Amino acid sequence: MSCGLPVLEVENLKEIYESVKKRVVGREREIRNILAALVAGRHILLEGPPGTSKSTLLQAIAEEIGVPFIMVEGNADLTASKLLGYFDPAQAVAEGYKPEHFVEGPLLEAMRKGGILYIDEFNRIPPDALNVLMRAIEEGEMVVPRVGPVRSRNGFRLVSAQNPYDDVGTTKVSMGIYDRLCKLRMNYQSREEEKLIVRLRTGCKDERLAELAVNIVRRTRSHPEIRQGASVRGAIHFVEIFQQLARLEGENAEDSEVYLSLVLDAAYMALSGKLWLVETSQKTPEQVIRQIVHESLGMVSGEEEIRVRPFRMTEASREVREELRRFFRGSSGRGDPPRG
Ligand SMILES: Nc1ncnc2c1ncn2[C@@H]1O[C@H](COP(=O)(O)OP(=O)(O)OP(=O)(O)O)[C@@H](O)[C@H]1O
Ligand SMILES: [Mg+2]
Repeated sequence: MSCGLPVLEVENLKEIYESVKKRVVGREREIRNILAALVAGRHILLEGPPGTSKSTLLQAIAEEIGVPFIMVEGNADLTASKLLGYFDPAQAVAEGYKPEHFVEGPLLEAMRKGGILYIDEFNRIPPDALNVLMRAIEEGEMVVPRVGPVRSRNGFRLVSAQNPYDDVGTTKVSMGIYDRLCKLRMNYQSREEEKLIVRLRTGCKDERLAELAVNIVRRTRSHPEIRQGASVRGAIHFVEIFQQLARLEGENAEDSEVYLSLVLDAAYMALSGKLWLVETSQKTPEQVIRQIVHESLGMVSGEEEIRVRPFRMTEASREVREELRRFFRGSSGRGDPPRG
Protein backbone atom coordinates (compact mmCIF):
# COMPACT_ATOMS: atom_id res chain seq x y z
CA MET A 1 0.00 0.00 0.00
CA SER A 2 1.40 3.41 -0.82
CA CYS A 3 0.58 6.77 0.70
CA GLY A 4 0.65 8.49 -2.65
CA LEU A 5 0.56 7.96 -6.35
CA PRO A 6 3.29 7.55 -8.91
CA VAL A 7 5.21 10.58 -9.99
CA LEU A 8 3.51 12.28 -12.95
CA GLU A 9 5.41 11.87 -16.17
CA VAL A 10 5.73 15.47 -17.24
CA GLU A 11 8.78 16.21 -19.31
CA ASN A 12 8.15 19.91 -19.68
CA LEU A 13 7.72 20.84 -16.03
CA LYS A 14 9.56 24.14 -16.41
CA GLU A 15 7.46 25.12 -19.42
CA ILE A 16 4.29 24.33 -17.49
CA TYR A 17 5.53 26.52 -14.65
CA GLU A 18 6.22 29.40 -17.03
CA SER A 19 2.80 29.08 -18.72
CA VAL A 20 0.89 29.03 -15.42
CA LYS A 21 2.77 32.13 -14.28
CA LYS A 22 1.52 34.00 -17.32
CA ARG A 23 -2.09 33.29 -16.41
CA VAL A 24 -2.17 34.75 -12.90
CA VAL A 25 -0.79 37.81 -11.17
CA GLY A 26 2.17 36.93 -8.91
CA ARG A 27 2.04 33.70 -6.89
CA GLU A 28 5.28 32.31 -8.34
CA ARG A 29 6.22 30.54 -5.13
CA GLU A 30 2.76 29.00 -4.71
CA ILE A 31 2.65 27.82 -8.33
CA ARG A 32 6.08 26.25 -7.98
CA ASN A 33 5.24 24.47 -4.72
CA ILE A 34 1.86 23.20 -5.89
CA LEU A 35 3.34 21.93 -9.15
CA ALA A 36 6.17 20.19 -7.32
CA ALA A 37 3.79 18.43 -4.93
CA LEU A 38 1.36 17.35 -7.65
CA VAL A 39 4.05 16.01 -9.92
CA ALA A 40 5.69 14.24 -6.99
CA GLY A 41 2.46 12.31 -6.50
CA ARG A 42 1.15 14.14 -3.48
CA HIS A 43 -2.27 15.43 -2.53
CA ILE A 44 -2.65 18.96 -1.28
CA LEU A 45 -4.48 21.04 1.28
CA LEU A 46 -4.63 24.76 0.51
CA GLU A 47 -5.42 26.86 3.51
CA GLY A 48 -6.34 30.50 3.16
CA PRO A 49 -9.12 33.03 3.37
CA PRO A 50 -11.68 33.32 0.54
CA GLY A 51 -10.58 35.03 -2.65
CA THR A 52 -6.88 34.26 -2.36
CA SER A 53 -6.64 32.61 -5.80
CA LYS A 54 -6.82 28.99 -4.68
CA SER A 55 -9.28 27.86 -7.38
CA THR A 56 -7.78 30.13 -10.03
CA LEU A 57 -4.31 28.66 -9.50
CA LEU A 58 -5.45 25.06 -9.52
CA GLN A 59 -7.57 25.47 -12.61
CA ALA A 60 -4.67 27.07 -14.48
CA ILE A 61 -2.26 24.36 -13.30
CA ALA A 62 -4.62 21.53 -14.32
CA GLU A 63 -5.10 23.07 -17.76
CA GLU A 64 -1.40 23.58 -18.32
CA ILE A 65 -0.51 20.05 -17.17
CA GLY A 66 -3.34 18.82 -19.40
CA VAL A 67 -5.40 16.88 -16.84
CA PRO A 68 -9.15 17.24 -16.18
CA PHE A 69 -10.14 19.63 -13.39
CA ILE A 70 -13.18 18.56 -11.41
CA MET A 71 -14.47 21.01 -8.85
CA VAL A 72 -16.77 20.13 -5.96
CA GLU A 73 -18.17 22.42 -3.32
CA GLY A 74 -17.65 20.92 0.10
CA ASN A 75 -20.63 21.10 2.44
CA ALA A 76 -22.53 18.97 4.94
CA ASP A 77 -24.59 17.41 2.11
CA LEU A 78 -21.60 16.01 0.28
CA THR A 79 -22.15 12.38 1.20
CA ALA A 80 -19.94 9.47 0.26
CA SER A 81 -22.46 8.35 -2.36
CA LYS A 82 -22.56 11.81 -3.93
CA LEU A 83 -18.78 11.68 -4.22
CA LEU A 84 -18.68 8.16 -5.62
CA GLY A 85 -21.91 8.02 -7.59
CA TYR A 86 -25.24 6.24 -7.35
CA PHE A 87 -27.75 4.29 -9.39
CA ASP A 88 -30.65 6.36 -10.65
CA PRO A 89 -33.39 5.09 -8.29
CA ALA A 90 -36.29 5.14 -10.79
CA GLN A 91 -34.32 3.37 -13.51
CA ALA A 92 -32.83 0.86 -11.06
CA VAL A 93 -36.34 -0.10 -9.89
CA ALA A 94 -37.67 -0.37 -13.44
CA GLU A 95 -34.73 -2.11 -15.12
CA GLY A 96 -32.30 -3.23 -12.42
CA TYR A 97 -28.78 -2.07 -11.64
CA LYS A 98 -27.43 -1.69 -15.16
CA PRO A 99 -24.07 0.07 -15.60
CA GLU A 100 -25.70 2.68 -17.84
CA HIS A 101 -27.95 3.76 -14.95
CA PHE A 102 -25.00 4.58 -12.73
CA VAL A 103 -24.55 8.32 -12.22
CA GLU A 104 -20.84 8.74 -11.74
CA GLY A 105 -19.78 11.05 -8.90
CA PRO A 106 -16.85 13.48 -9.08
CA LEU A 107 -14.44 11.25 -7.17
CA LEU A 108 -14.86 8.30 -9.53
CA GLU A 109 -14.73 10.63 -12.52
CA ALA A 110 -11.45 12.15 -11.33
CA MET A 111 -10.00 8.70 -10.59
CA ARG A 112 -11.06 7.26 -13.93
CA LYS A 113 -9.85 10.23 -15.96
CA GLY A 114 -6.70 10.88 -13.94
CA GLY A 115 -7.84 14.39 -13.07
CA ILE A 116 -7.52 16.85 -10.23
CA LEU A 117 -10.44 16.66 -7.80
CA TYR A 118 -10.68 20.09 -6.20
CA ILE A 119 -12.81 20.22 -3.05
CA ASP A 120 -13.63 23.60 -1.56
CA GLU A 121 -14.50 24.04 2.11
CA PHE A 122 -12.87 20.72 2.93
CA ASN A 123 -13.57 21.13 6.66
CA ARG A 124 -17.33 21.22 5.97
CA ILE A 125 -17.67 17.76 4.49
CA PRO A 126 -19.04 14.94 6.66
CA PRO A 127 -16.76 12.23 8.11
CA ASP A 128 -18.04 9.42 5.83
CA ALA A 129 -17.15 11.46 2.73
CA LEU A 130 -13.72 12.22 4.21
CA ASN A 131 -13.16 8.50 4.79
CA VAL A 132 -14.01 7.66 1.21
CA LEU A 133 -11.60 10.32 -0.02
CA MET A 134 -8.84 8.98 2.18
CA ARG A 135 -9.41 5.44 0.91
CA ALA A 136 -9.22 6.70 -2.65
CA ILE A 137 -5.90 8.46 -2.16
CA GLU A 138 -4.42 5.69 -0.02
CA GLU A 139 -5.35 2.72 -2.13
CA GLY A 140 -5.83 4.26 -5.56
CA GLU A 141 -8.81 1.95 -6.05
CA MET A 142 -12.44 1.99 -4.98
CA VAL A 143 -14.79 -0.95 -5.13
CA VAL A 144 -18.27 0.30 -5.85
CA PRO A 145 -21.14 -2.15 -5.19
CA ARG A 146 -22.67 -3.41 -8.46
CA VAL A 147 -20.11 -1.41 -10.46
CA GLY A 148 -16.91 -3.14 -9.46
CA PRO A 149 -13.42 -1.86 -8.87
CA VAL A 150 -12.36 1.51 -10.24
CA ARG A 151 -8.60 2.11 -10.32
CA SER A 152 -7.29 5.62 -10.44
CA ARG A 153 -5.27 6.62 -13.46
CA ASN A 154 -1.99 8.33 -12.94
CA GLY A 155 -2.71 12.04 -12.65
CA PHE A 156 -5.51 11.63 -10.13
CA ARG A 157 -4.89 14.06 -7.30
CA LEU A 158 -6.98 15.47 -4.49
CA VAL A 159 -6.63 19.19 -3.86
CA SER A 160 -8.63 20.36 -0.90
CA ALA A 161 -9.09 23.95 0.19
CA GLN A 162 -10.31 25.46 3.41
CA ASN A 163 -10.54 28.72 5.25
CA PRO A 164 -8.63 28.39 8.54
CA TYR A 165 -10.80 31.02 10.25
CA ASP A 166 -14.06 29.35 9.35
CA ASP A 167 -15.18 27.60 12.50
CA VAL A 168 -18.96 27.70 12.03
CA GLY A 169 -20.48 24.44 10.83
CA THR A 170 -17.10 22.85 10.18
CA THR A 171 -16.06 19.28 10.90
CA LYS A 172 -13.03 18.44 12.95
CA VAL A 173 -10.77 16.90 10.33
CA SER A 174 -8.60 14.27 11.97
CA MET A 175 -4.83 14.47 12.16
CA GLY A 176 -4.73 11.18 10.27
CA ILE A 177 -6.23 12.94 7.28
CA TYR A 178 -4.01 15.98 7.51
CA ASP A 179 -1.04 13.63 7.75
CA ARG A 180 -1.78 12.36 4.26
CA LEU A 181 -1.95 15.80 2.67
CA CYS A 182 0.73 18.37 1.94
CA LYS A 183 -0.31 21.80 3.08
CA LEU A 184 0.24 25.21 1.54
CA ARG A 185 -0.79 28.37 3.31
CA MET A 186 -2.18 31.12 1.05
CA ASN A 187 -2.53 34.70 2.12
CA TYR A 188 -3.58 38.00 0.60
CA GLN A 189 -1.30 39.37 -2.10
CA SER A 190 0.51 42.71 -2.05
CA ARG A 191 -1.29 45.98 -2.70
CA GLU A 192 0.34 46.34 -6.11
CA GLU A 193 -0.59 42.80 -7.13
CA GLU A 194 -4.15 43.28 -5.96
CA LYS A 195 -4.44 46.45 -8.07
CA LEU A 196 -3.22 44.50 -11.08
CA ILE A 197 -5.74 41.70 -10.39
CA VAL A 198 -8.59 44.21 -10.19
CA ARG A 199 -7.57 45.85 -13.44
CA LEU A 200 -7.09 42.49 -15.15
CA ARG A 201 -10.47 41.13 -14.04
CA THR A 202 -12.56 44.28 -14.57
CA GLY A 203 -10.81 45.79 -17.58
CA CYS A 204 -10.72 49.03 -15.58
CA LYS A 205 -8.27 51.45 -17.15
CA ASP A 206 -8.54 53.89 -14.30
CA GLU A 207 -5.68 53.22 -11.96
CA ARG A 208 -7.09 55.44 -9.20
CA LEU A 209 -10.41 53.64 -9.13
CA ALA A 210 -8.59 50.30 -8.82
CA GLU A 211 -6.44 51.83 -6.09
CA LEU A 212 -9.48 53.09 -4.18
CA ALA A 213 -11.08 49.63 -4.40
CA VAL A 214 -7.95 47.92 -3.12
CA ASN A 215 -7.46 50.48 -0.35
CA ILE A 216 -11.02 49.93 0.84
CA VAL A 217 -10.78 46.13 0.95
CA ARG A 218 -7.35 46.18 2.55
CA ARG A 219 -8.68 48.44 5.30
CA THR A 220 -11.43 45.91 6.00
CA ARG A 221 -8.68 43.41 6.90
CA SER A 222 -7.17 45.50 9.66
CA HIS A 223 -10.29 47.15 11.04
CA PRO A 224 -10.65 46.33 14.75
CA GLU A 225 -14.35 45.53 14.42
CA ILE A 226 -13.94 43.11 11.53
CA ARG A 227 -13.04 39.51 12.17
CA GLN A 228 -12.56 38.65 8.52
CA GLY A 229 -12.36 41.32 5.88
CA ALA A 230 -12.90 41.25 2.15
CA SER A 231 -10.62 39.77 -0.48
CA VAL A 232 -9.64 41.08 -3.86
CA ARG A 233 -12.95 39.61 -5.02
CA GLY A 234 -14.65 42.43 -3.08
CA ALA A 235 -12.48 45.00 -4.85
CA ILE A 236 -13.37 43.49 -8.22
CA HIS A 237 -17.09 43.63 -7.40
CA PHE A 238 -16.75 47.21 -6.14
CA VAL A 239 -15.15 48.42 -9.39
CA GLU A 240 -17.65 46.57 -11.57
CA ILE A 241 -20.61 48.03 -9.71
CA PHE A 242 -19.15 51.52 -9.45
CA GLN A 243 -18.55 51.63 -13.21
CA GLN A 244 -22.17 50.80 -13.94
CA LEU A 245 -23.53 53.19 -11.29
CA ALA A 246 -21.45 56.00 -12.80
CA ARG A 247 -22.81 55.11 -16.23
CA LEU A 248 -26.38 55.26 -14.95
CA GLU A 249 -25.83 58.61 -13.28
CA GLY A 250 -24.12 60.14 -16.31
CA GLU A 251 -23.30 63.84 -15.87
CA ASN A 252 -24.76 63.88 -12.34
CA ALA A 253 -21.96 61.70 -11.14
CA GLU A 254 -19.58 64.60 -11.58
CA ASP A 255 -21.08 66.22 -8.54
CA SER A 256 -18.86 65.30 -5.63
CA GLU A 257 -21.78 64.41 -3.35
CA VAL A 258 -23.28 62.14 -5.96
CA TYR A 259 -19.86 60.65 -6.55
CA LEU A 260 -19.43 59.92 -2.88
CA SER A 261 -22.86 58.31 -2.68
CA LEU A 262 -21.96 56.09 -5.64
CA VAL A 263 -18.73 55.02 -3.97
CA LEU A 264 -20.67 54.21 -0.82
CA ASP A 265 -23.39 52.31 -2.67
CA ALA A 266 -20.87 50.32 -4.68
CA ALA A 267 -19.03 49.53 -1.44
CA TYR A 268 -22.23 48.48 0.37
CA MET A 269 -23.26 46.26 -2.51
CA ALA A 270 -19.83 44.76 -3.01
CA LEU A 271 -18.76 44.34 0.59
CA SER A 272 -21.55 44.29 3.17
CA GLY A 273 -22.22 40.57 2.74
CA LYS A 274 -18.53 39.69 2.72
CA LEU A 275 -17.52 41.14 6.07
CA TRP A 276 -17.57 39.18 9.26
CA LEU A 277 -17.79 41.54 12.21
CA VAL A 278 -16.44 40.69 15.66
CA GLU A 279 -19.16 39.46 17.98
CA THR A 280 -18.83 42.46 20.29
CA SER A 281 -19.35 45.02 17.53
CA GLN A 282 -22.42 47.22 17.91
CA LYS A 283 -22.25 48.39 14.31
CA THR A 284 -23.79 47.14 11.12
CA PRO A 285 -21.49 46.19 8.23
CA GLU A 286 -22.78 49.28 6.39
CA GLN A 287 -21.67 51.58 9.19
CA VAL A 288 -18.21 50.05 9.23
CA ILE A 289 -18.00 50.28 5.45
CA ARG A 290 -19.01 53.92 5.51
CA GLN A 291 -16.23 54.67 7.96
CA ILE A 292 -13.71 52.77 5.83
CA VAL A 293 -14.81 54.54 2.63
CA HIS A 294 -14.41 57.91 4.34
CA GLU A 295 -10.96 56.97 5.54
CA SER A 296 -9.97 55.66 2.13
CA LEU A 297 -11.03 58.92 0.53
CA GLY A 298 -9.07 60.87 3.10
CA MET A 299 -12.18 62.14 4.88
CA VAL A 300 -12.22 62.16 8.63
CA SER A 301 -15.38 60.52 9.85
CA GLY A 302 -16.43 60.35 13.44
CA GLU A 303 -19.28 58.40 14.94
CA GLU A 304 -21.64 61.34 14.54
CA GLU A 305 -21.11 61.67 10.86
CA ILE A 306 -21.57 57.95 10.33
CA ARG A 307 -25.13 58.19 11.65
CA VAL A 308 -26.10 60.98 9.25
CA ARG A 309 -28.33 59.74 6.47
CA PRO A 310 -28.38 60.61 3.66
CA PHE A 311 -24.75 61.61 3.67
CA ARG A 312 -24.11 65.35 3.50
CA MET A 313 -20.82 67.10 3.04
CA THR A 314 -19.85 68.68 6.33
CA GLU A 315 -17.72 71.81 6.70
CA ALA A 316 -14.84 69.61 7.78
CA SER A 317 -15.02 67.58 4.61
CA ARG A 318 -15.54 70.51 2.27
CA GLU A 319 -11.82 70.78 1.68
CA VAL A 320 -11.83 67.35 0.13
CA ARG A 321 -14.63 68.33 -2.24
CA GLU A 322 -12.20 69.65 -4.80
CA GLU A 323 -9.95 66.70 -4.25
CA LEU A 324 -12.89 64.40 -4.93
CA ARG A 325 -13.85 66.36 -7.99
CA ARG A 326 -10.32 66.13 -9.36
CA PHE A 327 -10.24 62.44 -8.47
CA PHE A 328 -13.47 61.87 -10.30
CA ARG A 329 -12.55 63.91 -13.38
CA GLY A 330 -9.34 61.94 -13.63
CA SER A 331 -11.23 58.69 -13.35
CA SER A 332 -12.94 59.04 -16.73
CA GLY A 333 -16.21 59.97 -15.11
CA ARG A 334 -18.94 58.13 -16.89
CA GLY A 335 -17.59 54.76 -16.09
CA ASP A 336 -15.47 52.56 -18.24
CA PRO A 337 -17.12 49.65 -19.92
CA PRO A 338 -16.64 46.61 -17.73
CA ARG A 339 -14.14 44.92 -20.01
CA GLY A 340 -11.56 45.96 -22.60
N1 LIG B 1 -3.30 36.08 -8.42
C1 LIG B 1 -4.41 36.27 -9.13
N2 LIG B 1 -4.35 36.46 -10.46
C2 LIG B 1 -5.46 36.66 -11.18
N3 LIG B 1 -6.72 36.68 -10.66
C3 LIG B 1 -6.84 36.50 -9.34
C4 LIG B 1 -5.70 36.28 -8.50
N4 LIG B 1 -6.14 36.16 -7.24
C5 LIG B 1 -7.48 36.28 -7.27
N5 LIG B 1 -7.90 36.48 -8.53
C6 LIG B 1 -9.29 36.69 -8.94
O1 LIG B 1 -10.01 36.94 -7.74
C7 LIG B 1 -11.19 36.15 -7.68
C8 LIG B 1 -11.12 35.19 -6.52
O2 LIG B 1 -10.12 34.21 -6.75
P1 LIG B 1 -10.40 32.65 -6.50
O3 LIG B 1 -11.81 32.31 -6.83
O4 LIG B 1 -9.33 31.88 -7.20
O5 LIG B 1 -10.17 32.58 -4.93
P2 LIG B 1 -10.34 31.33 -3.95
O6 LIG B 1 -9.13 31.36 -3.07
O7 LIG B 1 -10.61 30.09 -4.71
O8 LIG B 1 -11.60 31.79 -3.13
P3 LIG B 1 -12.69 30.89 -2.32
O9 LIG B 1 -11.96 30.36 -1.12
O10 LIG B 1 -13.73 31.89 -1.94
O11 LIG B 1 -13.18 29.83 -3.25
C9 LIG B 1 -11.31 35.48 -9.04
O12 LIG B 1 -12.09 36.31 -9.86
C10 LIG B 1 -9.88 35.45 -9.55
O13 LIG B 1 -9.84 35.49 -10.92
MG1 LIG C 1 -12.35 28.87 -4.74
